[in-house]
Amino acid sequence: MNQQILVKSYPEGWLKESDFEYKESPIPCPGESEVLIRNQFLSLDPYMRGRLSPSKSYAKSAEIGAVMVGSCTGIVLESKSEKFKVGDTVLNTLGWQTHGVCHERDIKRIDVSKIPEHAYLGVLGMPGVTAWTGLIDICEPKRGETVVVDAASGAVGSVVGQLALARGCTVIGIAGGKDKCHYVVKELGFNACIDHTSHDFKDQMKAAVPKGIDCLFENVGGVIFETLLMLMNPFSRIALCGLVSEYNVNPYGNHSLRSILINRIKFQGFIVTDKPQTWPAIIEELKQAYLEGHLKYKLSQVDGIKNAPNALIGLLKGQNFGKQVVKLI
Ligand SMILES: NC(=O)c1ccc[n+]([C@@H]2O[C@H](COP(=O)([O-])OP(=O)(O)OC[C@H]3O[C@@H](n4cnc5c(N)ncnc54)[C@H](OP(=O)(O)O)[C@@H]3O)[C@@H](O)[C@H]2O)c1
Repeated sequence: MNQQILVKSYPEGWLKESDFEYKESPIPCPGESEVLIRNQFLSLDPYMRGRLSPSKSYAKSAEIGAVMVGSCTGIVLESKSEKFKVGDTVLNTLGWQTHGVCHERDIKRIDVSKIPEHAYLGVLGMPGVTAWTGLIDICEPKRGETVVVDAASGAVGSVVGQLALARGCTVIGIAGGKDKCHYVVKELGFNACIDHTSHDFKDQMKAAVPKGIDCLFENVGGVIFETLLMLMNPFSRIALCGLVSEYNVNPYGNHSLRSILINRIKFQGFIVTDKPQTWPAIIEELKQAYLEGHLKYKLSQVDGIKNAPNALIGLLKGQNFGKQVVKLI
């Protein structure tokens, strides 16, 4: 049977397990130019909270009663396509379900001979491209500059820091808790990482950037963002990537916008799908860096599709440590 998680309701405030519903249905059959896929890994990402809302945004809401949206990697079990054969590993957007049928134009074969397949959901996938786009296109970091990124141990933040280090920047991460900070400095090589749960976070942050901040890659929002805004240098740049601390509580935060004005900061929001034509070259660059050992990542894995709702709730509270995936089978 195909195991699925459907959207049951749009949450008000914090996401709950009861906003989802588990269902089993028969495994579908592929038609002309289609393949049947058995999914192995499901990616969980902060954007999913935004889809669970009727509000208008840059992407369509997930529909009530439909399978929850998401990206997966899986194996082709049956093929009526000339482009894909049984046993191919493919990237797909079947969402929160173990099986499904896709048209050949909607899937991409991935090479898993030297690279684990879940890497294509993280460091070599959408989060990796997000990191590259915000850092390189928007922040334009220069050798010797100070780059700060929050959610630094996560899927996007960990890549931002490693790319900035490779460009000769001083990189300061921000993460929740000692273990995450230790990983960011010892494993990823950041120059420092400040724990935002410390009582003296603001003082530690100020001491960590004696020359101020030239590039800020913002993932979190709230108090962290407020603190960082006040440390920005004149003519610095901010890539506004996400505001994950506010997704469940406060969609319209109150920021110290005056710093943007007086420091003439270049401050740009972006969506990773803005320039699809840039993806292949970015992924190729990330793949080379990964294969040469310059791009590391950590996996935060739960097993079984029934645990996906709880794992997404945990991700939105910062309980994941690294790229969050669900191993479906
Ligand atoms: N603009 C785009 O196109 C685009 C594309 C992809 C992702 N994004 C954004 O990028 C950001 C990072 O995404 P990701 O996939 O890499 O997620 P992630 O960092 O792997 O996981 C989310 C992390 O956010 C931090 N966090 C969560 N709630 C928090 C809170 N209340 N206060 C402080 N920190 C909190 C936690 O890290 P700590 O415990 O270390 O704080 C948590 O581990 C998100 O804001 C996401 O929406 C944007």
